[in-house]
Amino acid sequence: MAHPGVLLSFEGGEGSGKTTQARRLTDHLKGLGYAVTLTREPGGTPLGERIREVLLGRNDELSPLEEFLLFSTARAQLVRTVIRPALEASHIVVVDRYYHSSYAYQGGGGALSMDYMQAVTAGIVGDCALDLVLLLDVEPHTGLSRCSYAGGKDGTASDRFEGKGVEFHRKVRDAFISCAQAEPERFAVIDASESIEDVFARVRDAALEVLRARGLQPSSK
Ligand SMILES: Nc1ncnc2c1ncn2[C@@H]1O[C@H](COP(=O)(O)OP(=O)(O)OP(=O)(O)O)[C@@H](O)[C@H]1O
Ligand SMILES: [Mg+2]
Repeated sequence: MAHPGVLLSFEGGEGSGKTTQARRLTDHLKGLGYAVTLTREPGGTPLGERIREVLLGRNDELSPLEEFLLFSTARAQLVRTVIRPALEASHIVVVDRYYHSSYAYQGGGGALSMDYMQAVTAGIVGDCALDLVLLLDVEPHTGLSRCSYAGGKDGTASDRFEGKGVEFHRKVRDAFISCAQAEPERFAVIDASESIEDVFARVRDAALEVLRARGLQPSSK
């Protein structure tokens, strides 16, 4: 085995509940005594957070290729400085979005070549393979309305991707589902239209099953 840790990602469209569930799962696993590192994409490193501002901000016009290359730069640094060291230290690493978001947004939504993105991504992630992708699946209207509700009063889109319209987000959703169908053993597809509690129950069960299969016990018990 390349490293002793476990790598879990949360994926899904806008407002599907990734950040909510990633935090809850992290707290739950820490409560069980596991060492957990929670991080996010784009971001998670000082450079990654600066790239996040460019990517999610609406000042610069970016093609899908330019978006992918910026995401990839942030991703490469996140893997090198955060994810790989934590996996080598036997942590459970929880990533709030990872490379399947590129496949869905720049590939499904932006029509960038999947083969090209997979080749670049393979070079970035190396032996830090995902143990489980928790795909929070929700109809785009539902997710987007949660975002504008959270964003406040006027319902205007708050970032570059939220603002792309429902048709774009339907393609993104379809691309996430295609990723899950291509690797069913790596994905748990979870109906994210349910309540936060019900979604969390599914998230927790899927994560604990992977930990059991890997024979991982909490370190403090
Ligand atoms: N299952 C749910 N039912 C109702 N509301 C939810 C649910 N999950 C999350 N929310 C709410 O929806 C909003 C968006 O949730 P959250 O930030 O976790 O989504 P996200 O997938 O991380 O969004 P983004 O793609 O913008 O990062 C928050 O206000 C959150 O409290
Ligand atoms: Mg989020």
